[in-house]
Amino acid sequence: MNASKPIIAILGGSGDLGGGLAWRWARAGYDVVIGSRTQEKAEQAAAELNNEGLTKPVLGMSNEAAAKAGDVVVMTVPFANHQGTLESVKDIVQGKVFIDVTVPLVPPKVGTVQLPEGGSACVMAQDFLGDEVKVVSAFQNVAAAHLTDASHDPDCDVLVCGNDKEACALVVELVEAAGMRGWHAGPIANSVVAEAMTSVLITLNRRYKIPGSGFRITGTPKV
Ligand SMILES: NC(=O)c1ccc[n+]([C@@H]2O[C@H](COP(=O)([O-])OP(=O)(O)OC[C@H]3O[C@@H](n4cnc5c(N)ncnc54)[C@H](OP(=O)(O)O)[C@@H]3O)[C@@H](O)[C@H]2O)c1
Repeated sequence: MNASKPIIAILGGSGDLGGGLAWRWARAGYDVVIGSRTQEKAEQAAAELNNEGLTKPVLGMSNEAAAKAGDVVVMTVPFANHQGTLESVKDIVQGKVFIDVTVPLVPPKVGTVQLPEGGSACVMAQDFLGDEVKVVSAFQNVAAAHLTDASHDPDCDVLVCGNDKEACALVVELVEAAGMRGWHAGPIANSVVAEAMTSVLITLNRRYKIPGSGFRITGTPKV
């Protein structure tokens, strides 16, 4: 790993949140690899981001090749595909920092908190991948829309939860590199709060016609 900037691999980076984060991290000078179930889709997604004014090009690979290439692996796939994607990279990500952004939404009632039997998506990821993988939960409350607009303020703080303090500190840095405020908010068990909060934000968006609500930690000098 480069001492100052790890290579970031984003599984499902062809999607909305993964693509937006990829663009922001590449703009901040990180080497970013987009993963997809197919090489062609990954290359296509990377080419589209590179057309959005990136000077440091994003690469596209299969999810497995991206997971191998990354120092930090970020998983950005729907909850319905959470377990399957974990299975496909379990052996490859041993020893790595693994950021899970998954919200365990159960359509059609996405405005209602419906936690999985395993407790939370990120707790399930940590349990399944094992203690050698430093699973960190982050970004569940950030609306993906407009992330590739540099002037757009996501207007949302990011709760960062994980059992490894150094891994969480690194993820807080990555949150800030992507233009948001990150807070190390405790162990992976606390991820349930961020995961549940998303259904509350979806409800607020609907009720008050907010394009993409977020939240801020208040009473702090951190800017
Ligand atoms: N969108 C948001 O605003 C937002 C905000 C906070 C958190 N999140 C969370 O972030 C994650 C990704 O959300 P998103 O909106 O970016 O999702 P998305 O665009 O619907 O999908 C992301 C990627 O997941 C892959 N995928 C789709 N179906 C799959 C399957 N059956 N098996 C394996 N991979 C599959 C696809 O990649 P390939 O086809 O290239 O493999 C797709 O491009 C979700 O867990 C969501 O809860 C989203």
